[in-house]
Amino acid sequence: MTKMGSLTRSGFLRTPNETMRLVMTTVVGVVVGFLIGTSFPTASLTKFNFPTSIIPSIDFAYIDDRRSGLRTHKILKQAFDKQSNATEVHNLNDTSKIYVPTNPRGAEILPPGIVVPESDFYLRRLWGKPSEDLTIQQKYLVTFTVGYDQKKNIDAAVKKFSENFTVMLFHYDGRTSEWDEFEWSKRAIHVSVSKQTKWWYAKRFLHPDIIAPYEYIFMWDEDLGVEHFNAEEYIKLVKKHGLEISQPGLEPNKGLTWQMTKRRGDCEVHKSTEEKPGWCSDPNLPPCAAFVEIMATVFSRDAWRCVWHMIQNDLVHGWGLDFALRRCVEPAHEKIGVVDSQWIVHQGVPSLGNQGQSQGGRAPWEGVRDRCHKEWKLFQDRMAKAEKAYYIEMGITPPNSTTRW
Ligand SMILES: *[C@@H]1O[C@H](CO)[C@@H](O)[C@H](O)[C@H]1NC(C)=O
Ligand SMILES: *[C@@H]1O[C@H](CO)[C@@H](O)[C@H](O)[C@H]1NC(C)=O
Ligand SMILES: *[C@@H]1O[C@H](CO)[C@@H](O)[C@H](O)[C@H]1NC(C)=O
Ligand SMILES: *[C@@H]1O[C@H](CO)[C@@H](O)[C@H](O)[C@H]1NC(C)=O
Repeated sequence: MTKMGSLTRSGFLRTPNETMRLVMTTVVGVVVGFLIGTSFPTASLTKFNFPTSIIPSIDFAYIDDRRSGLRTHKILKQAFDKQSNATEVHNLNDTSKIYVPTNPRGAEILPPGIVVPESDFYLRRLWGKPSEDLTIQQKYLVTFTVGYDQKKNIDAAVKKFSENFTVMLFHYDGRTSEWDEFEWSKRAIHVSVSKQTKWWYAKRFLHPDIIAPYEYIFMWDEDLGVEHFNAEEYIKLVKKHGLEISQPGLEPNKGLTWQMTKRRGDCEVHKSTEEKPGWCSDPNLPPCAAFVEIMATVFSRDAWRCVWHMIQNDLVHGWGLDFALRRCVEPAHEKIGVVDSQWIVHQGVPSLGNQGQSQGGRAPWEGVRDRCHKEWKLFQDRMAKAEKAYYIEMGITPPNSTTRW
C-alpha cells in the first residue's frame, strides 16, 4: 500500500527534467492566461476556439493542475459556462440533466452506465490490458484472523483451499511481511490492524458490496485442524443440502460446548440435534437447530449481506451472534447446518485472548472473557429492544419466543 502511495502525480515530477518542464509550463501558462484574459472580450466567447498560434504546445493537464495555471483555468471555465448556459441553464427541468433515483444513494446524478456499486479482491497488474488482467476470477473467499505464531496451522489450512478461493488474512499482531515465506502469501490480501477481533475486521473490510463476487465466504479462526477437510468438497455439500450458513463438524475429542456442532460419523450433513434437557424451548431453535458457532462459519453471499448488517461495531467478540444467525435465513432450521463429512478439529489455542491487558492483578485473558460475556448480554438486549420497537411501531403484539437466548 505504501509503495503505491509514492506513485502519485507529484511522484512523476521528481526528475530534474520534469521539474524544468513544469517551470516552463507554468511560465507559459501564466502568460497565456493573461493573453486570453485581455485579448478576448469574454462576452463574445460563445464558441470556444483557441487560435492555435497563441498556445503552440501546452500540455493542458499541467495547466489545469498547477496553481499558477488557475487563472487560465478560471477563464476557460467561464467560457465553457457561457457556452453551456444557452443550452442548459435555461431549462432547469430539462431532461438533459441527469438524475437517476435508482442509482445508489448519493450517485443519482451519474449516468448509470458508469456507476460501479460493487467491488472485489481480485489482484490486477499495473500494465497491459485491464481486460486481460485476471486469469481466474475466484468465486469463494476465505478469511483467517491470524498471528504469526500460528503460521504452520494457517499454511496447512490455506492449502486446503483451491485456486478458486481468494485468501485474506487479518493480522492482529502487526506481522505481515514474514508471511511471504509462503508462496501463497503473495496472492493473498493482507490487512494488518493491531489487536482486533475477527468481527471487527469483518465489519470493516468485508462489506457485502466489496465482496460481492464471492458465492461463499469462509470466516475462520486460526486454530483449526484441517486434516480431514477439503474446501471444494465442502462447497459441493453445502450446495447440495441448501445450507446458507454452515460450519464443518467438530471432532468430538475436545471439550465441546454444543451438541449441534459435533461431527457425526454417519451422515454428510445434519441440521438439528438433541441437547441437554431444558436447553431447547423449541426443537427448531438454537441450540438444537438453526445454529452453528462463530469459529469456522461459512456464509452464502445472501446470508452474509444480512449478517453483516447485524454485526455491531462495538461488540467485537461476536458473542451471541451465533444464536442470532437464524434471523438472516428462512426457514433457518433448514438452511443452517453442520457438514459432517468434511470436518475439522478445534485446537483451542487462546491466541487473541492473550492479547488483552491485565487489570487489577488479573490475567489478560480474564478481562477478555469478562468482556465476551458482557457483549453477549448487550447484544441480546439490543436485539430484544430492536425487535420490540419494530412490533410496537407496526402495532403488533410481539410474539413470545423470538428473543430467547
Ligand atoms: C446564463 O443565462 C442567464 C439567463 O439568460 C443569465 O442571467 C446568466 O447570467 C447567464 N450565466 C452566465 C454565466 O453567463
Ligand atoms: C418544466 O416542467 C414543467 C412541468 O413538466 C413545464 O410546465 C415547464 O414548461 C418546464 N420548463 C422548462 C423551462 O422546460
Ligand atoms: C475451480 O472451479 C472450477 C469451475 O467451477 C472447477 O472446474 C475446478 O475444478 C475448480 N478447481 C478445483 C481445484 O476444484
Ligand atoms: C407466551 O408466553 C406466555 C407465558 O410464558 C404463555 O402463557 C403464552 O401462551 C405464550 N403465547 C404464545 C403465543 O406462545
